[in-house]
Amino acid sequence: MSLTRQDRLQALGLWPTWRLRVAAPVGIEPLSPAQESAPAPLESAPPEPVPLAVVPSAPMAATPALPVVPCIRESSPIDAMNWDALLAEIKSCTRCELAKSRTQAVPGVGDIHAEWLFVGEAPGANEDRLGEPFVGDAGKLLDAILAAIGLARGSNVFIANVLKSRPPGNRDPKPEEVAACLPFLERQIELIQPRLIVALGRFAAQSLLATDTPIGRMRGQVHRYRGVPLVVTYHPAYLLRNPLDKAKVWEDLVLARDTMHALKN
Ligand code: URA
Repeated sequence: MSLTRQDRLQALGLWPTWRLRVAAPVGIEPLSPAQESAPAPLESAPPEPVPLAVVPSAPMAATPALPVVPCIRESSPIDAMNWDALLAEIKSCTRCELAKSRTQAVPGVGDIHAEWLFVGEAPGANEDRLGEPFVGDAGKLLDAILAAIGLARGSNVFIANVLKSRPPGNRDPKPEEVAACLPFLERQIELIQPRLIVALGRFAAQSLLATDTPIGRMRGQVHRYRGVPLVVTYHPAYLLRNPLDKAKVWEDLVLARDTMHALKN
């Protein structure tokens, strides 16, 4: 059965309540706090000012996948690993105390030559049990998010987390855990060479961009992770708790989709 775009948006809970009035091209400015708290425009409402501040931007050149700029931190044996060695290293990792409590490490899932890389925070209980990222309720929502822009898990998409091991009780990752685990994600990015990264939530965005900027201020613009365009959006688990913010996620997806389109054309 093939789904229409309306079916996909409906699955995401975005139809027919509201609609983005303008496609967000590459090079938009972050939303102001006032704009961020504005309610999403309703489908039936009369036209209103565009909620995104569009600024002129140099068009993105049509390029092949951008080479990932080498990282500057102290080198580690992980930096030279091929995919199989990296997977083995992740699965047997004892670089932090999470190794003691996890059932198994969760390296990631999907196409290792994918153009799209989605990065979440850390495995939860379901992921820890099954060894695959985003398999619980947040995962179902992520699948709907992917479908809304014509993507599917495993097909030109790779899904990974910053942490490969579950923090007990789903607590926040500790800085030392992120520091211990990040070289795995960095090497995954070097090997996959995605065209575009979507950071799902604060931890992914802040870890990859090495910043403590709040997520609301990182949305709405195209960042670069070592040369690779990166779009920030809310984590699906946050969206489950704050469904009204689905409108913002749709804006971010449109930005990601348009950025990918600009990279290819
Ligand atoms: N949340 C994440 O960030 N990653 C998962 O794999 C599952 C839930």
